[in-house]
Amino acid sequence: LNMRQPIMAGNWKMNPATEADALNLANGFCALLNEMADTCAMDDKEGCTEVVLFPPFPFISKVKDIVAKNGISVGAQQVYYEDKGAFTGSVAASMVKSVGCEYVLCGHSERRTLFSDSDVNINSKVKKVLEFGMKPILCIGETQEEYDLKITKEVCAMQVSKDLAGVSKQEMKNVVIAYEPVWAIGTGLVCDAESANEVHKYIRSVLSKMYDDEVAQSMRIQYGGSVTPDSVDGLMAMSDIDGCLVGGASLYADKFARIVNFQP
Ligand code: G3P
Repeated sequence: LNMRQPIMAGNWKMNPATEADALNLANGFCALLNEMADTCAMDDKEGCTEVVLFPPFPFISKVKDIVAKNGISVGAQQVYYEDKGAFTGSVAASMVKSVGCEYVLCGHSERRTLFSDSDVNINSKVKKVLEFGMKPILCIGETQEEYDLKITKEVCAMQVSKDLAGVSKQEMKNVVIAYEPVWAIGTGLVCDAESANEVHKYIRSVLSKMYDDEVAQSMRIQYGGSVTPDSVDGLMAMSDIDGCLVGGASLYADKFARIVNFQP
């Protein structure tokens, strides 16, 4: 029996352009959820879908003020692993915690490729996020080249073992994993549900070896990469897909409201 609570997350990335647009998006999303019958996102009673938004740093506080009454939490798209000091342009875990973030994305492929986030740094960030009582969503996944080489499983196993090194079994209760095949991100090429599910199962087998069956079976694993209202239901019908990490479609209130209200 799968007791994992579904978790749907919207990663706004470096969008929208202004605070006014961000607040409009948050307000529009909440208004649609309020209209939708049977929506689970509106309260946090057991069995409901958990919903998290990841706005850019400057918008986090005000977005939280808007969405909190719908039972939606907010997170940061990234943090630095040092506590404080001369790190111009960086944001610390304590800072995002203090403005109400519950989650932090760690190891997103755009951070890995465009900002040289290494597995060692990602591991430090995961631990820092946990140290401050927040929940990391660890993003992993193979590139197009690795996909072509058919080494998806090897890549995922390597990332999971390096990025979670030293994380205790107890701490794993607060970790979420997002499997995002890099070739599916922002491309419109959604990974087919069965193939994604195979990778999710494999990730559980890796967790089972690193920890135990309990950790493997209770870990929530999201799929990310071109998720839309058209693909969400098929993905969520899979045995080992526990939610989605949504980029582009989360910038449209109507699309994301439909995704959150998936019909498996
Ligand atoms: O973090 C979510 C993401 O990388 C997927 O983006 O635009 O393909 O949904 P998108």
